[in-house]
Amino acid sequence: MKKEIRKIANPMSPLPVALISCNTVEQPQVLTVSWTGVVNSTPLKMYVSVQPVRNSYAAIKERGEFVINVPTADMLKETDFCGTNSGRNVDKFKECGLTAEKCEHISAPMIAECPVSIECRVCEVLSLGSHDMFIADVLAVHVDPEMMNGDSIDFSKISTIAYGNSAYFKVEQKLGGFGIWKQL
Ligand SMILES: Cc1cc2nc3c(=O)[nH]c(=O)nc-3n(C[C@H](O)[C@H](O)[C@H](O)COP(=O)(O)O)c2cc1C
Repeated sequence: MKKEIRKIANPMSPLPVALISCNTVEQPQVLTVSWTGVVNSTPLKMYVSVQPVRNSYAAIKERGEFVINVPTADMLKETDFCGTNSGRNVDKFKECGLTAEKCEHISAPMIAECPVSIECRVCEVLSLGSHDMFIADVLAVHVDPEMMNGDSIDFSKISTIAYGNSAYFKVEQKLGGFGIWKQL
C-alpha cells in the first residue's frame, strides 16, 4: 500500500467520547472529552487529558476527582453541547436536563442518564503541552444492570459514540469476540 507522510492532527479513529463530571453534586460541572481511556489493567487506572483553559480543569486539579460517564448515541445533542459550551457561561447540567447523582467514594457527581459511570481519584498529573493528563485510580464502576452480560458490560447493547476528525460516529455492530480469527 502506498502511503505519504502528512501533517495530521488526529491520526487515529475511532476515539471514545465521554462526559467528565466533576466538582460537587450541589454544583456539578461537566465537559466532553475524547482524550480518555484505560492506561493500566491491574490496578485499573484510567486517564483524562484536559486543557488548563477549560473551566472544569480547576475542579479536577484542585479536588483530584472526576467521573468518566459513557453517553449513549441518543445523548448526542447533550454530548456535543457539553463539548462546545463552557460552564463559565451556562449551567450545562440544567441546560441538558442531566441529573447529578452522588457517587460511592468521591464527592464529584456521576451523571444518572449515562449507563456507565466510572469513579476516579487522581494519582498522577502529567503536563504534556497543550493538555494535562490526569491519571487516576478507578474506585468504582457503576453500570446499568440491563447492559451487563455476566461479569462484562455488553457494549453492543449500549450504542456508544465514537469520535474521529471532528465528527461523531455511532458504534453498535459487534464483529466478534476474542479468538474470532479461528472462524474467519
Ligand atoms: C468530541 C469532543 C471532544 C473533546 N475532547 C476534549 C479533550 O479530550 N480535552 C479537553 O480539554 N477538551 C476537549 N473538548 C473540548 C471541551 O469539551 C470544551 O472546550 C468544553 O466547552 C469545556 O467545558 P468547560 O469550560 O465547562 O470545562 C472536546 C470537545 C468535543 C466536542
